[in-house]
Amino acid sequence: MIGRFWRLWLTWATLFLMTEPIWPQEPFVILAEETVKNPYTGNPEAIADGERLFLETGCHGCHGHTAEGATGPDLTDDVWRYRPTDATLFKAISVGRPGTLMPPWEGKLTPDQIWKIIAFIRSKYRGDPSKIVW
Ligand code: HEC
Repeated sequence: MIGRFWRLWLTWATLFLMTEPIWPQEPFVILAEETVKNPYTGNPEAIADGERLFLETGCHGCHGHTAEGATGPDLTDDVWRYRPTDATLFKAISVGRPGTLMPPWEGKLTPDQIWKIIAFIRSKYRGDPSKIVW
């Protein structure tokens, strides 16, 4: 009796945690590919924090001071390697792009800081407005 109760409880707890946006595991990023949204898009304070983090963390070394591109690609135009959803950018920044110069930042940046950096990147967008997917 007790055993069955706990098994059921654990199943629900696990399902809940797996779908919680803050759960920092790979399955979340894949599961939520199309549904996760950056809570900071368009938020001026978060964008200012994101810009500071972009410079302090050293992103500018490869992507330029205003994300205009250098050794690394321009992050302000509408040319992207993959469909540039919030989830795709979050994943690119947290796990990096193995086999390229883009390093993983998880452990150095919190998920919250990554979302602020993405808000900064979005604020610099100067591509075709009809190609916005976030
Ligand atoms: C050592 C150089 C380097 C640094 C530092 C670096 N990047 Fe990158 N980044 C790259 C390269 C190269 C790519 C292209 C990877 C590819 O071809 O998929 C890339 C790709 C990306 C992409 C995906 C672009 C696309 O078209 O899919 C994002 C977003 C990004 N970087 C953000 C950042 C952020 C934010 C930081 C700082 C936390 C950062 N990068 C630091 C080199 C760098």
